Amino acid sequence: MHRHLLWVLFALLSVLAAGARAEPVASVSSPGGVLTVTVKLNGEGRPGYTIDRNGKPVIAESRLGFLLADAPKLERNFELAASGARSVDETWEQPWGERRYIRNRYNELRVRLKEKSALKRSLEIVFRIYDDGVGFRYEFPDQPELKQVHIADELTEFAVVDAATAWWIPGGEWNRYEYLYQHTPLSEVGQAHTPLTIRSVGGLHVAIHEAALVDYAAMWLRRVVGQRLKASLAPSADGARVSRVAPFTTPWRTLQIADSAAGLYMSDLILNLNEPNALGDVSWVRPFKYVGIWWSLHLDTESWASGPKHGATTTNARRYIDFAADNGFRGVLIEGWNEGWDDDWFADGSSFSFTRAYPDFDLATVAAYARERGVRLVGHHETSGYIAHYEDQLEEALDLYSRLGVDSVKTGYVADAGGIKARGADGSIRFEWHDGQVMSRHHLKVVTEAAKRRMMIDSHEPIKDTGLRRTYPNWVAREGARGMEYNAWGSPPNPPEHEANLVFTRMLAGPMDFTPGVLSLVGRGGQPIQSTMAKQLALYVVIYSPIQMAADLPENYAKYPGAFRFIRDVPVDWADTRVLNGEVGDYVTFARKDRGGDDWYVGSLTDEHARRLRITLDFLDPGRSYTAQVYRDGNDADWRRNAHSIVIETRPAKHGDKWELALASGGGQAIRFVAAAPVR
Ligand code: NOJ
Ligand code: CA
Repeated sequence: MHRHLLWVLFALLSVLAAGARAEPVASVSSPGGVLTVTVKLNGEGRPGYTIDRNGKPVIAESRLGFLLADAPKLERNFELAASGARSVDETWEQPWGERRYIRNRYNELRVRLKEKSALKRSLEIVFRIYDDGVGFRYEFPDQPELKQVHIADELTEFAVVDAATAWWIPGGEWNRYEYLYQHTPLSEVGQAHTPLTIRSVGGLHVAIHEAALVDYAAMWLRRVVGQRLKASLAPSADGARVSRVAPFTTPWRTLQIADSAAGLYMSDLILNLNEPNALGDVSWVRPFKYVGIWWSLHLDTESWASGPKHGATTTNARRYIDFAADNGFRGVLIEGWNEGWDDDWFADGSSFSFTRAYPDFDLATVAAYARERGVRLVGHHETSGYIAHYEDQLEEALDLYSRLGVDSVKTGYVADAGGIKARGADGSIRFEWHDGQVMSRHHLKVVTEAAKRRMMIDSHEPIKDTGLRRTYPNWVAREGARGMEYNAWGSPPNPPEHEANLVFTRMLAGPMDFTPGVLSLVGRGGQPIQSTMAKQLALYVVIYSPIQMAADLPENYAKYPGAFRFIRDVPVDWADTRVLNGEVGDYVTFARKDRGGDDWYVGSLTDEHARRLRITLDFLDPGRSYTAQVYRDGNDADWRRNAHSIVIETRPAKHGDKWELALASGGGQAIRFVAAAPVR
């Protein structure tokens, strides 16, 4: 054969080979050497990444890149222009949270890719590699070739290597995040929200999510084939899912990776990837417990709407304020106080006034009475997703609350997914998604306007939590999953496994305003709640939030003073948190230490199976003795019968003791370890 032809053939063959096999261009391991990320470019110059754990592949080569709406896609013909690495090991303090101090220890890899083709556009990808997970994001540099960026979709993939099962809720469906968790082979996932939690045959646990979702669309995960998942950004009425001006960064794509379900929860990856507090002095952000005119509305014994059943009357509000003051709750939520609930508020929201009260509710008098009794109203703004209408009144509405001493507001966006009404650039109403770019902006607008007035925000029907509480500590909680209200009217109501699912999925994202503590254990029309009474107490320790509601009616708490005592005692801000045991969807036990004292609290709960869980009290201070106040399921307790059977007893306890917790079907256990003076 002609020598020249041979050479051409060889070159062609090597390109073909390179096309099939990507070449590593950069690789960095975590500080303890547990995880390794490798960035590759294949023969077509398409970037990808892999993740190994202790030398074994966890994520096979997965694509990186973008489809653009008005320019050629940004995903091939790249070459490595530069790469760099650095290490960080720092500890920072949370103003409030599950633990006071958080260690942020990672190795970072930054690669700059540049197109070899005519456009010569650049894209940077930054990886932060921790021992318990990886975060990566794209950075769009300032460049004349790509200034206005219109992202049609993101191409990021997550190709899971080992056969795994997944716990997931559908993404892009009408009921937002309010679905029961499905547990299926990963290869049966369709399109899911994050956090998506998976467990491989070998027991490795991985949760895929995102951090610092700012001015961008939320990432859903769509299964491409086998166990290969791909980012799918929440849509926008504007066509392009994200529109930004460079320079900008995307949210972090996160993978928490641990040997156990408990290890996933213990990871601080999401918070660490968020920017530090941007609000300065946040001593005014104070965790609190609250009660309110709420459960009766969901039971339908009172109404948001005006008329004979109206719940938010001055008289009723006073009753709740007295109840809060008498029992040490700081907050009183009053829903349905303002005009606009009489029509079909679910469907529209245009009649809401955020400043005018119904005639039978005297806002100023109620707020003054609350102050007199040493409690604060928790404001309420239900928007029904009509954010254009809400934003028109936002500043005035917050000012009104501010004048009355109201320093927290619960917002609400009850509308089907895709039914958010926002004002477009031309002034017309555009229909958006709860987790699209428009809503990521809207929520931060509300949170920053509230911060100017030293007010906290608790959003219901929110955009998912991605750890922004670190940057905006006044964004104290969100809903964003099926909460207690489903036990009032849900069909079906929450099953006994629901909270054990939440802990290792939704709760990896951040605090949830679940509104626990319904000791009466019945919903609307007497529908049984699938929980024992002890489990309702355990929820205060298990489902973390810096604001916790005692959701039941005052008259129901009066019936169960023994159990109610735990709800009065339990703190909402923690110095430390340990997950003592747990399996996704089955059971979990938490130990948390009060940030304002020396006591420890344990909360344990199970699904429909009764269990005996062994724990070691190795979290207690060895230099102290403790008296444990135990609230446990009675021996005959079962959520289907004897749901109220509870044993309340005290026991001595010390560091290292081994205990067995007996949980009933649908049951739980709550314990307060009261510390005695230190032994000398
Ligand atoms: C849904 C919220 O989750 C619930 O807590 C509230 O009572 C209603 N919307 C009305 O705003
Ligand atoms: Ca809700």
